[in-house]
Amino acid sequence: MSSPQPAGVITCKAAVAWGAGEALVIEEVELSPPQPLEIRIKVVCTSLCRSDLTAWQSLTSTPIFPRIFGHEAAGIVESVGEGVSEFGVGDHVLTLFTGECKTCRHCTSGKSNICQVLGLERRGVMHSDQGTRFMVKGRPIYHYCAVSSFSEYTVVHSGCAVKVSSIAPLEKICLLSCGVAAGLGAAWKVADIAGGSTVVIFGLGTVGLAVAQGAKIRGASQIIGVDTNPEKKEKAKIFGVTDFINPNDYDEPIQQVVKRVTSGGADYSFECIGDTGMITAALQSCCDGWGVTVTLGVPKVKPEITAHYALFLTGRTLRGSLFGGWKPKSDLPSLVDMYLREEIQVDEFITHNLSFEEINRAFDLMAEGKCLRCVIHMPK
Ligand SMILES: NC(=O)c1ccc[n+]([C@@H]2O[C@H](COP(=O)([O-])OP(=O)(O)OC[C@H]3O[C@@H](n4cnc5c(N)ncnc54)[C@H](O)[C@@H]3O)[C@@H](O)[C@H]2O)c1
Ligand SMILES: [Zn+2]
Ligand SMILES: [Zn+2]
Repeated sequence: MSSPQPAGVITCKAAVAWGAGEALVIEEVELSPPQPLEIRIKVVCTSLCRSDLTAWQSLTSTPIFPRIFGHEAAGIVESVGEGVSEFGVGDHVLTLFTGECKTCRHCTSGKSNICQVLGLERRGVMHSDQGTRFMVKGRPIYHYCAVSSFSEYTVVHSGCAVKVSSIAPLEKICLLSCGVAAGLGAAWKVADIAGGSTVVIFGLGTVGLAVAQGAKIRGASQIIGVDTNPEKKEKAKIFGVTDFINPNDYDEPIQQVVKRVTSGGADYSFECIGDTGMITAALQSCCDGWGVTVTLGVPKVKPEITAHYALFLTGRTLRGSLFGGWKPKSDLPSLVDMYLREEIQVDEFITHNLSFEEINRAFDLMAEGKCLRCVIHMPK
């Protein structure tokens, strides 16, 4: 058997964002071979998460363009860089927007999934050398979360991908690479919802509805979903939401409504909107003594939060969570296996299947509140 040829630069199509809020343009780009400890992946399917849209709009962050977005993806390893022994060509993988090196203080702590080496990358470059791997018209293109899956091929660090069962459908499990896993983990690992408890979820997108699913599986007795979009009501039932509340139907603050229907506040509340103002409402919606608020949203505008100190003095806890507290490499394969055993729902979050050429439609649908997840199928 001949040994594999060393990988070279490839030319492929990628959806390039040239500026904040500007429609993506499908361009021919050049992609470097994987550098040491990196892998190059043929992206099979990638879905649009609200975090891509927020970063593309760049209302709170410094705009970084041109850029290739996309961080919720499944694909097949095309080539591996020097020193990679964990992956082989043809392996099925999910990309990880926050990686796991397995050796840093956080990875070895047993208490954190915030890897100090391969954690959330915000500057649009690769972790290992702060460089980029894509070029268009002679210019470097920035990455997003060191994943950049809105491309036929991408390069990621081997710590920012995880091998999964080859029988799992990539067009479905791509959702586990961010939103669905983030919501389930917030319910199970971060809040650790107990059976019989009351839960209130602000924002019924994929993340909020995955929290609802996690709460239902844990046997929560009341799962209240709060959303300003009335179209979310029917869909929410599928994931276990027992009571739907639209804040626009009430003259009083939403936290007062929640307190009334939960006889003094829920056991757990979750902020899944990306609105820091709603974190205060979420805190006020859970009960004195033991109420836990988990915030998952990535703010679109104002990043600071404000809350009266008495909310904490009376025993509430506010917790934040990235990727639902999962250690991405260690924990994600078991979620894929749970999906294969039909213990968790994933397909039901997919409202649209689109071709790569239709990628801007996914952005429009999400901006207009008309989808949960749009799965983008890359050319075969
Ligand atoms: N922490 C993490 O690991 C993680 C992972 C994925 C996504 N996120 C973030 O979580 C949030 C949710 O993501 P998503 O993909 O489900 O987004 P989404 O846009 O699909 O869902 C947000 C929902 O909030 C609703 N909403 C908006 N304003 C509201 C208001 N004032 N009151 C009530 N409901 C309101 C919308 O109608 C929508 O249904 C985003 O901020 C996203 O960036 C975080
Ligand atoms: Zn995401
Ligand atoms: Zn680490």
